[in-house]
Amino acid sequence: MREVPLIIVGIGGVGRMLLAQIISKRRLHAERYGVTLGVIAVCDSRSAVLELGQGINDANLEDVIELKAAGGSLDEHALGGREYAGLAELVTAVGRPGVIVVDLTATEHTIPGLLYSVEQGYRIVMANKRPLTATQEVYDRLTRAGVTVGGRQGEDGTDYKQLLPVRWETTVGAGLPVISTQQRLVASGDQVHRIAGAFSGTLGYVMAGLEEGRAFSAIVREAYDQGYTEPDPRDDLSGADVARKALILARGLGWSLEMSKVDVTPLYPAELDNLSVEEFLDALPALDSAWAEQVQAAQNEGAALRYVARIEDGQCVVGPAAVAKSSPLGNLSGTDNLIEFHSRWYSPTPLVIQGRGAGIEVTAAGVLSDIIELTTIRYR
Ligand SMILES: NC(=O)c1ccc[n+]([C@@H]2O[C@H](COP(=O)([O-])OP(=O)(O)OC[C@H]3O[C@@H](n4cnc5c(N)ncnc54)[C@H](OP(=O)(O)O)[C@@H]3O)[C@@H](O)[C@H]2O)c1
Repeated sequence: MREVPLIIVGIGGVGRMLLAQIISKRRLHAERYGVTLGVIAVCDSRSAVLELGQGINDANLEDVIELKAAGGSLDEHALGGREYAGLAELVTAVGRPGVIVVDLTATEHTIPGLLYSVEQGYRIVMANKRPLTATQEVYDRLTRAGVTVGGRQGEDGTDYKQLLPVRWETTVGAGLPVISTQQRLVASGDQVHRIAGAFSGTLGYVMAGLEEGRAFSAIVREAYDQGYTEPDPRDDLSGADVARKALILARGLGWSLEMSKVDVTPLYPAELDNLSVEEFLDALPALDSAWAEQVQAAQNEGAALRYVARIEDGQCVVGPAAVAKSSPLGNLSGTDNLIEFHSRWYSPTPLVIQGRGAGIEVTAAGVLSDIIELTTIRYR
């Protein structure tokens, strides 16, 4: 049995679910892959729990899940939390070959530690979009790690770019196989000339409501009351999260592009940015008639209004757009994510992936698949 040591950074909803799935799938991983995943360190924003020998046992992992679900901090854990001074320091303290570092935070603070990890030859799995949407230089250093680690590039005339010891499948479309599909298209030499996608369940909900003829303000208020939006709904309505996903896809095509060049249109005007959440929600009825007109204009042209990311002709554009009613995006309703890859081989009908694009179960499952996939790749 091969023991694969893991460092898990971030024990929020996805992190806790990942721990639960690791515990419940131990038999599958042993029988099918001959692998046992040993969690040797977990950390939250303040502290870390380490067990460098055999890894943290399942009873202690279950305590971590319970403690964090109850809003506690890892320094209250029975194994004794130690102060967490950053991922680089943690990776140095662990110093174990073959480690997989799993970033389940939503912060840029992990970037130095991730870069240090790839320099050390550690493998990485990210659900966190921030490192991949920082500067192009950071993206390149993280995602081309496999090319330089061990000096494998060109050794035997083979390009090892597809053996990247880094995975980030869940950063776009959660558990849906979006990144791996794109990588396969790129690897085959197919020419992807257009990507169009809906990457936000919340914005899908808003657009579906508009299409049913409901008022914009009422839909947003309802989504907020039901807990479908972030605590500040502007975090969804700004389109910033969709823009990060679009940038990851554009860079995945080999484009060199910075976040500042992604053209994002939010669903509300900038003057509502400085209001409190309640003031913001109260101000929304003033936007209702303009939204109704936009929906009607799209319908008059036989089109449907969707919040889409479009990557085409060197441009990465995110915002509301009228799409042909007959297209996969035009047929989309509800909160599913959907992506169309238009390429030389997938034309005129695009390659389409559709399904649930958020949720801690599917996201943790996608992260777990990334981890298992890395354990089956031998590099060095
Ligand atoms: N939820 C989904 O459906 C979904 C889908 C796709 C991708 N994702 C991505 O997956 C990631 C995790 O999502 P989530 O819903 O689990 O988030 P979450 O519940 O907010 O959890 C974030 C975790 O990161 C920890 N953290 C914050 N700053 C840190 C730092 N500097 N160092 C170490 N840990 C730090 C937090 O610590 P504390 O516990 O101390 O606050 C918390 O445990 C995010 O990047 C998200 O965008 C989520």
